[in-house]
Amino acid sequence: MNDQAIHILVIQPLMEGLAKKIANRFICHNLYQCEDIDSYLKLHGDKIRGVATRGDVGLSSEIMEKLPNLEIISVFGVGTDGIDLVKAAERNIKVTITSDILTADVADLALTFIMALSRDLQYQDKFARSGKWLTTPPRLASKLTGKKIGILGLGKIGKAIAKRAHAFDMDIGYCDSKKISNVDYQYFSNLIDLADFSDFLVLAIPGGDQNKGVINLNILRALGEHGSLINIARGALVNEVDLIEALQSGIIKSAALDVYEDEPKINNAFLPMENVILTPHIASATFETRQEMAKNVFDNLDHYFTTGKAITDLHLH
Ligand code: 8YV
Repeated sequence: MNDQAIHILVIQPLMEGLAKKIANRFICHNLYQCEDIDSYLKLHGDKIRGVATRGDVGLSSEIMEKLPNLEIISVFGVGTDGIDLVKAAERNIKVTITSDILTADVADLALTFIMALSRDLQYQDKFARSGKWLTTPPRLASKLTGKKIGILGLGKIGKAIAKRAHAFDMDIGYCDSKKISNVDYQYFSNLIDLADFSDFLVLAIPGGDQNKGVINLNILRALGEHGSLINIARGALVNEVDLIEALQSGIIKSAALDVYEDEPKINNAFLPMENVILTPHIASATFETRQEMAKNVFDNLDHYFTTGKAITDLHLH
């Protein structure tokens, strides 16, 4: 195989070190720099054998169709909601994700959110800086021990969240398509019952059409005025109009969001809310994890084009 002849399409800018490594090893086509994507792909689409993309970006079906010789999509992340996996499988295209690498970080952020909300961290920080403490006693927060956490989706990330919640003596419930055999957390077969049980409802299911808008006003009503919503998964899981109404009218107590329906745009209605924590999709954004993710994205392409096998292949076919 002539390595120099392998063409890779890069959908969005990658971390600098990763972009350099890919460019040294392959011929890179940076789609995000193209002004006319259609004409570019007409000219170069049939040369492309590999794609490098991000979990939150994926690869649109329109672009995938214009890459007739595509063999592998290497994803920087674990989400595949932006990729048509059925079409990929039909065409024998391998899809690789950065499995396991980001699990701990994402779970850590979920617990960070829960602790910050229960102890009013944002308010107390503001209060301490304001000088009000000189004249006013700090307000009381809410105890975490014994509180109920409901985890929607007990996959790898959901289990890592449960493990951490267990260490904080929380009462753990989960909802998944089926009861998981090797855990003794309380199982709920439907989301509304899980929301009703929860003080903290944590979303840890994949995005994609099947889960779009699963968090709506009904679920938020069940979560209730003492409940908080934590989203470290995908913005599309939540009907944001409903969430905004629930937060503004006290249907739920608070929320902590790392992901949004239309990110990187954040609905303006969230900005003045004091009962909301907002972060810019940083659940996996630690230096160590992002380095390891970058290595995995490169290694999958490199290994595949050297041996014909990818390392963290989803094995769709
Ligand atoms: C990343 C993600 O932040 O794993 C995913 O699917 O969304 C995140 O880990 C993202 O892919 C990088 O931008």
